[in-house]
Amino acid sequence: MPSSKLSVVVTRRLPATVEKRLSELFDVKLNETDTPLSREQLTAALRTADVLVPTLSDTIDAGMLAQAGDNLRLIANYGSGVDHIDVATARQRGILVSNTPGVLADDTADMTMALMLAVMRRFREGSSHLQSGDWQGWSPSAFLGARLGGKRLGILGMGQVGSAVARRANAFGMQVFYHNRKRVHKDAESALNATYCESLDQMLARVDVVSINCPHTPSTFHLLNARRMKLMKPSAIVINTSRGEVVDENALTRMLRAGELAGAGLDVFEHGNEINPRLRDLNNVMLLPHMASATEEARVEMGEKVIINIKTFADGHRPPDQVVP
Ligand code: DGY
Repeated sequence: MPSSKLSVVVTRRLPATVEKRLSELFDVKLNETDTPLSREQLTAALRTADVLVPTLSDTIDAGMLAQAGDNLRLIANYGSGVDHIDVATARQRGILVSNTPGVLADDTADMTMALMLAVMRRFREGSSHLQSGDWQGWSPSAFLGARLGGKRLGILGMGQVGSAVARRANAFGMQVFYHNRKRVHKDAESALNATYCESLDQMLARVDVVSINCPHTPSTFHLLNARRMKLMKPSAIVINTSRGEVVDENALTRMLRAGELAGAGLDVFEHGNEINPRLRDLNNVMLLPHMASATEEARVEMGEKVIINIKTFADGHRPPDQVVP
């Protein structure tokens, strides 16, 4: 299929260099408003495009895919997580799905460490104390937190982000444990200095910090539920830079309020940008608006991956980052 003829609909504004390159290669329709498309607009795009470039703010379900035009052959997601796309139905309908893995792992891992430090060292309380004008100067006993060095970190999901977190945690002197669907190769395990825990429950009971780095799938929904969080030490904290749905947010909120967990650093939430007010007003949390991968570099590299996926597909090959359900 000649790539210049491909009609590509992009649902959000992307970095200027990425939009320019896409427009040079394909017949591109951009969403100039940069607000998420409505379900109707998205369905209309699925009807007309050869290739759709959505983001995580576009839910593409079976009902919408049933209305897709015969032309639609590729959904080239701008982002790594694809839990907003019904990949299995797309496949049944002969529509390929690709994503942009790898290029945001380091930035996401940096933010994971930043959240760990922020919670363990009480950034939120210190910063609001100072900003409110209450600070009277240094005190030997004020804002005492906990040292990262020597603490036990449990990584839930040892993929690209989890591995990048493990490398950083080693540099901070943490002891790294992990739980994953499959144990990683022993060479990778020893390079990451990470101990495999076959039992998630046992890992949770022994760590000081749990970092969620697995994707959201039907089998990881509420993987960190009330029962499992009760296994954790009351001094432990939860960090989530993956997807909110992996943690039972109401249970986490209740436990934080009751002092059954010491804190949480969250970049993602169970219900998108609708955040439980009882979580929002806690002092022992650091909440960020899904910005772990928000660096200029990552956003350009994600766009470059989208372009390679579409171009490879247009040249008659499988996109290098095809997602298999
Ligand atoms: C992704 O790519 O899925 C990330 O969550 C975006 O930050």
